[in-house]
Amino acid sequence: MENREVVIEVKDLVKSFNGRVILNGINLKVYKGETLVIMGGSGCGKSTLLRNMIGTHRPDSGSIFIKGNDITKLNESEFDKIRKIYGMVFQDAALYDSMNVEENISLVLCEHTKLDPDIISIMVKMKLELVGLRGFEKFMPSQLSGGMRRRVGIARALAMDPELVFYDEPTAGLDPIIAGVIDKLILDLSKKLQITSVVVTHDMKSVFAIADRVVMLYDGKIIAEGEMSEIKNSEDPRIKQFITGSPEGPIQFLQSGDGYLDELTK
Ligand SMILES: Nc1ncnc2c1ncn2[C@@H]1O[C@H](COP(=O)(O)OP(=O)(O)OP(=O)(O)O)[C@@H](O)[C@H]1O
Ligand SMILES: [Mg+2]
Repeated sequence: MENREVVIEVKDLVKSFNGRVILNGINLKVYKGETLVIMGGSGCGKSTLLRNMIGTHRPDSGSIFIKGNDITKLNESEFDKIRKIYGMVFQDAALYDSMNVEENISLVLCEHTKLDPDIISIMVKMKLELVGLRGFEKFMPSQLSGGMRRRVGIARALAMDPELVFYDEPTAGLDPIIAGVIDKLILDLSKKLQITSVVVTHDMKSVFAIADRVVMLYDGKIIAEGEMSEIKNSEDPRIKQFITGSPEGPIQFLQSGDGYLDELTK
């Protein structure tokens, strides 16, 4: 692994909101062609880490290198160049409700290229074909199921033929079969198009299906990093608890003494 090209390197990343430290010294590398999964409990900072990696949030300190360029130090026009090599699939698909599928996907092509509308239309068709939604160009987001919207979100992320795609919870809220379809799509795209993928998820089935490597985020830090097989056999009780989904263990979701349950059961 070490001799493979590093596409992203995060160094000593710290990010806080209103004085609360969310990411407390994150170091990680993403290698060319791999699918790296970032897992961790709800609210542990996974989306925040992704937003820092795509440059929509600035860290308090630390660096994020994408293909050797520290994106925390680039000016707008330098950043625009890097911006073209990656696509992002947002946690809730984040489509524009007032635009049809074709318009949602072509938006980024219209913004970043000077291509003829006919060419853009062909490119949109090709992306829809890739995600199994040929013929859905004129549908509005409200006319699609959750899984279909997620696939349109993926087609949009692929619009600029990115080398790198970030996915935030691509299977959240989907039934297990549709979630499996999305997992297979992510796998196919990474293998067939040699896309490097960074996937944030807490869906363990997805992790097992798609991950080459996994990092686990807990309490602002990466507490485990390794190949899927190493994580699966980890003796760390926090990782075991996360994999088995047990409410009992070192990771506490409901703090005793919060009074939350007492309030509910009064
Ligand atoms: N823009 C913001 N302003 C203030 N606090 C924020 C902001 N974004 C995130 N946070 C806080 O940072 C923490 C981490 O949020 P984040 O969305 O990164 O978690 P997550 O791991 O993606 O959770 P989930 O699995 O529920 O999506 C939360 O406590 C959240 O309230
Ligand atoms: Mg999130």
